[in-house]
Amino acid sequence: MNLSPATDRTFPMNSWYVAAWDYELEHKLLARKICDQPVVLYRCKDGTPVALEDACWHRLLPLSAGSLVNDEVRCGYHGLVFNPQGRCTHMPSQETLNPSACVKTYPLVERHRFVWIWMGEAAKADPDLIPDVFQNHHPQWSGDGGITDLACDYRLLVDNLMDLTHETYVHGSSIGNDAVAEAPFTVRHTDDNVFLTRWMLDIDPPPFFKKQLGKPGNVDRWQMITFHSAATVTIDVGVAPTGTGAPEGDRSAGLSGFVIHSATPVNATSCRYFWAFLRNYKLADQRLTTEWREAARRIFGEDKSVLELQQKAVEQYPDREFYFLNIDGGAMWARRLIDRQIAAEIAQPDTAKLILRQAAG
Ligand code: FES
Ligand SMILES: [Fe+2]
Repeated sequence: MNLSPATDRTFPMNSWYVAAWDYELEHKLLARKICDQPVVLYRCKDGTPVALEDACWHRLLPLSAGSLVNDEVRCGYHGLVFNPQGRCTHMPSQETLNPSACVKTYPLVERHRFVWIWMGEAAKADPDLIPDVFQNHHPQWSGDGGITDLACDYRLLVDNLMDLTHETYVHGSSIGNDAVAEAPFTVRHTDDNVFLTRWMLDIDPPPFFKKQLGKPGNVDRWQMITFHSAATVTIDVGVAPTGTGAPEGDRSAGLSGFVIHSATPVNATSCRYFWAFLRNYKLADQRLTTEWREAARRIFGEDKSVLELQQKAVEQYPDREFYFLNIDGGAMWARRLIDRQIAAEIAQPDTAKLILRQAAG
């Protein structure tokens, strides 16, 4: 295997990734692969989430094949027990515990309905770096989300979300129309974010929004996309009847939505796509919540078909590079931020060691 981390790495380790939705974690063992690392997740009885490396210190059996004894994990092979801090607390037939007997733990933070995990250097796991997706858990927002497993590099999903002109061609029956592909946009960036803003003024509303708005006439439509390196994209979307002042900042006559996308790498060629679709009107309308969620699931299923075909093509043509067109301005900057993050890790001896160990494994 090629051990050149600078060329092999597709995801940074020092980044917050969504490990699970809040409801997925219970007082039972859940196995996940995140950034090519096997992880076992569970909640303690008081609700505290725990993430341990899913490999027993003794003979590497996945701990997820064992069982929970109160808040500790008992390996299903020879019965070693590990506490939530990863330390072995029991060895059968042995009174003295080997002091090195522990498994790696990963920092977790539960915030805005997601359980975020940090796979890299624990000392750098600053919770302030978690993308702010408060709309996912806020009294002035309603909605729901889901998970879609994608057999593709998570960066293909980031590319997809940073260029919504694809709506015209991939989602023509729901949220796309010609106006999206033709509208100009602006891109700016910082060290951690890319912002792309697009206004479509005085256009025929696309089918999904036409139905939601429930009245005829043209609309002003906005898409304000934010990339939060390395794997989260949020999109402030909406429409308002033309002439009601939305471009000037008054959205009161329109509909606002907020879409959260977070693509957690499973490995270099697959990812788990966590998404949510929120709105800030008709908050108590449960039917609308279900309608929006299922519409999102269908729409993201259209993306899945394209992205998985694209991944196969990337593997078919490993030496081909992507062309960057005007429409790829947001994606290009997102890729640059990811590459910079990976390059910074390679330059740090501790992380480089971790990366090499993973590449070799
Ligand atoms: S492999 Fe886990 S106790 Fe032996
Ligand atoms: Fe899409």
